[in-house]
Amino acid sequence: MASFPTTRLRRTRAHDWSRRLVRETRLSVDDLVWTMIVSDRVDASEPVESMPGVERLSVHMAATAAEEAERLGIPAIALFPNIDPAKKDAAGSEAVNADGLVPDAIKAIKDAAPGVGVICDVALDPFTTHGHDGVVEDGRVLNDATVERLCEQALVQARAGCDVIAPSDMMDGRVGAIRDALDAEGFEDVMILSYAAKYASAFYGPYRDAIGSAKALAGDKKTYQMDPANTDEALREVELDIEEGADMVMVKPGLPYLDIVARVKETFGLPTYAFQVSGEYAMIEAAAANGWIDGERAMMESLLAFKRAGADGVLTYFAPRAAQLLHD
Ligand code: PBG
Repeated sequence: MASFPTTRLRRTRAHDWSRRLVRETRLSVDDLVWTMIVSDRVDASEPVESMPGVERLSVHMAATAAEEAERLGIPAIALFPNIDPAKKDAAGSEAVNADGLVPDAIKAIKDAAPGVGVICDVALDPFTTHGHDGVVEDGRVLNDATVERLCEQALVQARAGCDVIAPSDMMDGRVGAIRDALDAEGFEDVMILSYAAKYASAFYGPYRDAIGSAKALAGDKKTYQMDPANTDEALREVELDIEEGADMVMVKPGLPYLDIVARVKETFGLPTYAFQVSGEYAMIEAAAANGWIDGERAMMESLLAFKRAGADGVLTYFAPRAAQLLHD
């Protein structure tokens, strides 16, 4: 390669047209999954304090939001429930209630916007009094007993019309067990998006506030979620999930783990998603609210970074705002 002064990299940066011409990565509405909080306690909507701009939506409002998603061209919505504390118990029984909030929301969204994919989290934490993702016995989160419950939960979601089952619990063997359970009931076309590399992260704080599990959570999730120090282990997690039947995989959190996104995509080449989690959203919003950064630009730059790292798409609370900007 010729060096300076023959080569001047600033030449192609000089004009808007030439910058567009040499641009390597693009963000499109097709890359966005709208992470949406639904609640069985609110009539319409209620703000999430730690996530300015995000609201807990009633089932009715979620259906209206799904119509907006369809209008904006957002391919899919990922649902997260805020459950009435009165319905929570140690076993997370409400997670398998066929008439519960999540099945209701799936049906309402599918009715309102049939062209929008619905992705549902599989894990018990929104439904348990202790805030853990699984069944707890003597202070331990039991793996195999939890997997049984998760299979039931996945079936309840599939029967309600969920398109994509997304286990976020990090139990061993759950992807294969859920695949078998779905197939045994004729749901062989329901997809699995596994939270394959999910880390025990501080960035989930505002989410736990949003779904109402923050105060409840006893201890931490380090015995099932991954150590932020590890990368080889992430590849093993992804490999196992692929062997067990995952159609797509996710890395979570997002921006602090772009190295993992890049390695997973490079190694396996399957559809790979990143979750820009609640804490990442809150940091951008908080700095923007203080006038410390340009919130809109930071939002778009962060979303583009996922694409540059190799992600096929991003689960993000910014989805409707980013989609609107991409259209403008
Ligand atoms: C739990 C779950 C979490 C998130 C999605 N599913 C949090 C956790 O593991 O405690 C986090 C989402 C976010 O922070 O936006 N199964």
